Amino acid sequence: MKECKIIIMGFGAVGQGIARAIALKKEMISKDYGVELKVVAAADSSSSAISGDGLDENLLADIKNENGKLSAYPDYGTIMSGPDVLDAVEYDLLMEATPTNIETAEPALSLTLKAFEQGKDVVTSNKGHLALKFGEVTKAAQDNNVEFKYEASVGGAMPIINFTKETLASCGINSIIGILNGTTNYILSRMTSEGSSYDITLKESQELGIAETDPTQDVEGIDAACKTVILANSLLGIDATYSDVEVDGISNITSQAIELAKKDGYLIKLIAEVSPNQLKVSPRLVKQGSSYDVNGTLNMATIKTDLAGEVTVMGLGAGSLETASAMLTDVISILKSKY
Ligand code: HSE
Repeated sequence: MKECKIIIMGFGAVGQGIARAIALKKEMISKDYGVELKVVAAADSSSSAISGDGLDENLLADIKNENGKLSAYPDYGTIMSGPDVLDAVEYDLLMEATPTNIETAEPALSLTLKAFEQGKDVVTSNKGHLALKFGEVTKAAQDNNVEFKYEASVGGAMPIINFTKETLASCGINSIIGILNGTTNYILSRMTSEGSSYDITLKESQELGIAETDPTQDVEGIDAACKTVILANSLLGIDATYSDVEVDGISNITSQAIELAKKDGYLIKLIAEVSPNQLKVSPRLVKQGSSYDVNGTLNMATIKTDLAGEVTVMGLGAGSLETASAMLTDVISILKSKY
């Protein structure tokens, strides 16, 4: 049987979700696609576990949970991390899930470019390098003749990038408008339905593992702005970068404002708009009962097309296994086309 040797870089909520998802699905994948998935390395910011014979995916996640470091993995734990891991073991595919960095795009940018230069395919959930240097990164993948897939970078488990590119392939995309951040939707929903305070709901979303490592990226609209840029580039062909997005977050939204809106039949949601005329993230009033009325960590997006009218998608926008599911679907799509 063919093998696909995988390195997982970044081992927070998403990285651990990848390991768990592979453990759950590798038998199905070998049966249905004839390829055995083997995790040969997993790394966090200061340690790793590396074995060319393959690691136990559930044990990786358990060890990280219990010890906080992958160096505690029996026999194969090391203090190596970063790009060196990509030289330490033979691999075919990098699953990159390091925290998003919107200042420098690192370490995702260096890891991704290095993997491309090594001729390896990359699946990512990261937003920093895509929001800052979409053209450069996607061109580097093409130049090295490797696959680069990033469905999980927008909307977690909500299908949007591959769905629009493949299922709506006959259509031109005029605009996309929707809710692209699970953490803020969770905070606003809980403030609306239960009158919970902003601080408590933010803490809850961190405990659920849905907030970014730096949660100001969520509440200040930065995360949704990154996703706006990724959709603009990948689906509307707009050559935009993060600084082109007008951004306003939800940190100034008060319980009183939410109550007032509610009385008039409205909700306050953090809305992202992607169109040739406007790239914008801001809190807006939406009608209760409309397609924007989605609760908790759900995301939604209405895709306005030339031939098919409006198509609306919805799904869980954040979460460990949910985000990993989108990454594993990208891996399967690479297995189908290359193996
Ligand atoms: N922090 C992000 C969110 C995770 O809340 O939507 C998914 O990108």
